[in-house]
Amino acid sequence: MRLVGIKSLKPGQELARPVYTSSGKVVLNSGITLTESFITKIEQIGVQKVYIIDERFSDVEVSQPLDFTIRTSVTKVLSENYSKVHSSKGIDEYDIKDAAKKIVDYTREYRGKGISILSTDAMDEFIIEHSVNVAILTAFIGNQMSYNFGQLCDLVTGALIHDIGRENIAKEKPEHVSIGFEAARVCRGFNLHSSKVCYEHHENYDGSGYPRKIKGNDISEFSRVVRVADYYDNALHGYDNNNISIMPHQAFESILAVAGQMLDPEIVERFRDTIIFYPNGCTVLLSNGLYGVVIKQNIGSPQRPIVRVYNEGGIIGDIDLLKSLTLFIQEVMVI
Ligand SMILES: [Fe+2]
Ligand SMILES: [Fe+2]
Repeated sequence: MRLVGIKSLKPGQELARPVYTSSGKVVLNSGITLTESFITKIEQIGVQKVYIIDERFSDVEVSQPLDFTIRTSVTKVLSENYSKVHSSKGIDEYDIKDAAKKIVDYTREYRGKGISILSTDAMDEFIIEHSVNVAILTAFIGNQMSYNFGQLCDLVTGALIHDIGRENIAKEKPEHVSIGFEAARVCRGFNLHSSKVCYEHHENYDGSGYPRKIKGNDISEFSRVVRVADYYDNALHGYDNNNISIMPHQAFESILAVAGQMLDPEIVERFRDTIIFYPNGCTVLLSNGLYGVVIKQNIGSPQRPIVRVYNEGGIIGDIDLLKSLTLFIQEVMVI
């Protein structure tokens, strides 16, 4: 399969993976042959990229950051509880903790495989989608930091609820941190470190954040981890930039630019060890002028995956960028 930008889709191409809404409803199933009206429909619901079937890359596997059934159940729990906060009802903390445990269980099996959370789904409830993404990323970072199971569950719980005081609107109002914290801290089932993430996830490492302008290790470690995941997901999916999504390596560059200022540089390092820059299936231009599709990852070296290069005549061969060190990826093509 191959990842294709919505603008380049053509009638006759077949979907390799279903297109979902964020609440898990299938909009179009895999195997379906695209028509003009299907393409318009995909575009209208805000999907920016889809996977299509391409026989040249039939062996390319795209790993799911979270099993679809788990993602759907976590999304449901979060959706119910986020709306409870805004109608002044109590949070069901045990449902949220259970959701966090499912994410931890799943991601522990996938540690060492790397993570890409590049979304190919619609964004109808972006705040929920965002919170689930942040929780998944946080779980991967926590694994890199050698947290034990209990700590991981508390950390991921904090990530799931970090924006629980926020409304489903693009702009984050500063008061969402105290609204969320007030709602979370009265829940006896939550560890205080989880609830504190609601209050501290906009504090910056250099003290320039809000609400208290605390810095460095005065910000709890959980909050510093969630801050990195939060910043990355916002950049990747363009939540602060008119929903214009960018590619993972660009989102990571934007993180590097603020490491040591907004973000804890050591946590950014741990994050680098777990992330995938160029997801399987994406088309790249190499520094030797050849085009190729990423077919496999070299975990820990996110900038050097294995690429299958081609020209008009067909496939030329596979290049492992970890072995061909003079070559590098020059550009990601949204084609
Ligand atoms: Fe926030
Ligand atoms: Fe957030």
